[in-house]
Amino acid sequence: MTINHIALDEVDSTNNYLKQHRAELPDGTLVTAALQTAGKGRRGHDWLADRGMLPFSLLLKNPPHPDTVTLCAAVAVCGALEELLPKESFGIKWPNDIILRGHKLCGILCESVCFGSSMDVICGIGINISQTEEFFQTAGIPHGGSLKMLTGFVPDRETLAREISRRLYEYSREGFPAVSEQYIKHCLTVGKTVRIIENGREREAFAEGIEPNGFLVCRDETGRFEVNSGEVSVRGLLGYI
Ligand code: BTN
Repeated sequence: MTINHIALDEVDSTNNYLKQHRAELPDGTLVTAALQTAGKGRRGHDWLADRGMLPFSLLLKNPPHPDTVTLCAAVAVCGALEELLPKESFGIKWPNDIILRGHKLCGILCESVCFGSSMDVICGIGINISQTEEFFQTAGIPHGGSLKMLTGFVPDRETLAREISRRLYEYSREGFPAVSEQYIKHCLTVGKTVRIIENGREREAFAEGIEPNGFLVCRDETGRFEVNSGEVSVRGLLGYI
């Protein structure tokens, strides 16, 4: 698969760019930007960043398994980063935060656009490449961290975005079951007691596993139940992870 790469200097949001232009762009278009001025995070939050963050989005036209693209993206990010830094352990906080040495290194926001009976998915990925510790403190994101801050290593941004996109495109065709073993190997949530937050209410449960549809399988004193990432937030007992 050849990725069609559009490299921008500045944009409001790489996800928005693909939403606006997707009709005239081919499947597998990657948009990167040096600076994103109005980045969007999950649950309607802003995604604040300076030029130290690498924002990019991949356009997947009518993907066969749209619901699990976001989990495939987490595996693609871990795989590409591990190739660059084989001694580091990259973890996934369910469903798709990438964690390095206890810090959030990367966030993923998938958005879909429906038209008729079809649906395109825009998978947006923000990797903290070279922001300083002061940046995260000032921004009020104490659990955030960048590759440079945590490891001293600064990869080539465009090459990294292309490699992750290449992997993500392939996994999105195959579907989550093809990479679920890798996902679970990296997952920091499975095998832990976590706090599940739904509509402002919190309950504790043991996270047992991941279903093929990406739902988190949990157990508490009431028995087994599944949670969907669109409806709940999950936190560790003592903090973010
Ligand atoms: C999160 O809340 O963890 C998800 C953050 C996703 C940020 C990326 S940066 C590239 C793409 N464009 C956006 O506006 N958001 C995503």
